[in-house]
Amino acid sequence: MSRKPAKQRGEKTVAVLDVGSSKVAALIALVGPDEDVPRVIGMHQLACTGMKSGLVADLAAVESAVRQAMDKAERNAGVTVRDVAVSVSAGGLESDLATVEVDIGGQRIERADLDHVHDEARAGIEPEGRIVLHAEPALYTLDGQNAVINPLGLHAETLAVSINILSAERAPMQNLEMAVRSADLNVTSKIAAPVAAARACLSAQEKALGVALVDLGAGRTNIAIFAQGLMVGFSSIAMGGEDVTQDVASALGTPPYAAERLKALKGSASAVPRDNHERIDVPGLQGGDSLYQRPRAELVHAIRGRLDVLFALIDERFEELGFVGPRARQVVLAGGGAALAGIADYAEGILGRNVRIGAPSGLTGFPEQQQASAFNVLTGLALMASEDQPDFWQQKTTTFVPAEGSGLSRMWRLLKQNI
Ligand SMILES: Nc1ncnc2c1ncn2[C@@H]1O[C@H](COP(=O)(O)OP(=O)(O)OP(=O)(O)O)[C@@H](O)[C@H]1O
Ligand SMILES: [Mg+2]
Repeated sequence: MSRKPAKQRGEKTVAVLDVGSSKVAALIALVGPDEDVPRVIGMHQLACTGMKSGLVADLAAVESAVRQAMDKAERNAGVTVRDVAVSVSAGGLESDLATVEVDIGGQRIERADLDHVHDEARAGIEPEGRIVLHAEPALYTLDGQNAVINPLGLHAETLAVSINILSAERAPMQNLEMAVRSADLNVTSKIAAPVAAARACLSAQEKALGVALVDLGAGRTNIAIFAQGLMVGFSSIAMGGEDVTQDVASALGTPPYAAERLKALKGSASAVPRDNHERIDVPGLQGGDSLYQRPRAELVHAIRGRLDVLFALIDERFEELGFVGPRARQVVLAGGGAALAGIADYAEGILGRNVRIGAPSGLTGFPEQQQASAFNVLTGLALMASEDQPDFWQQKTTTFVPAEGSGLSRMWRLLKQNI
């Protein structure tokens, strides 16, 4: 990457890390006081095998990859960073709804009532050993039945707020944080990978109408469902591009590195008759320069065999997450696996829904070759880290003063579901 103009007055430096099962990617961007679009000034990615299925498996390998990735990004950028935002991908991510109800006593709901019910939600929801990554008020309910988007100014006996919570298991997150800290970086925020990817490649309209974001990573396939602008469901499958590569290696009798290249350069998810006639050069397992020729159809067959298994699982998860019916028509594929030729058409056929490939947008100065589906998480991290908007979970209101005679009876009912 070419050297970018130096930091201007008032600009803030943002550094982010995506630690995936196949790669570690670091990005540094500048955000101006009057600019909406962060400007990338440094980026580097390198292969890393220290993560397995999104979990730290080799601490030293992850630490070293993180150090190298950020070092190179820093050199590109001409700055030194210490604080980073990191993505959290596996680690038992779960999305849940928790509901808190307060008594309003037939009065009109005021800002102070809303602040109060939000504060109670923050104080009262115990994630029980899990770490809350994101939380958002999803829905308000008046008198136990009347669902409203904005309750301000309405009369009610009770006001309930349902908080959409995305949490992760503690230990896998601590391991990731430890690896990053060992590389002399300070983790200032942890952002769920699907939330970051969605920020980079889904439109507001898609998220409002209903969409499934399927991140086809190396070791995992993450499915996130969005509706009414919120992430309402999440599921993760411990299968990804690496499994496709392994199947290709076995089927063609070639080393994994060669299978990976063949998959990316000659592979496809769509079979066509001429695949039977086209021959591809396949390196042998015995090493050296030995090459033998196989019909391309064998490569495509091996890829499709694994995709059939993976997409059947994805379809099952859609059902389990309730992503069915007329509001469940749109699917967006992200992650490196979405770069496979013919994958969108293949997925449309199997899933019976509209499928598009999600490419990241929202940053300037991002090298063109990096604007691929594998960089949605990295891009989303940079966008979210630039915004400086504290998550609902971190916000504390200090404005609450119980309005006199408002009828607030301080009887909170905490209904916790699944958390
Ligand atoms: N052109 C391509 N065709 C097919 N597969 C590809 C292509 N480019 C990348 N991939 C696959 O994408 C996967 C890597 O994707 P990605 O970078 O999103 O994963 P990751 O973030 O490292 O892993 P994870 O999200 O599972 O932790 C690899 O398995 C790789 O083989
Ligand atoms: Mg990933």
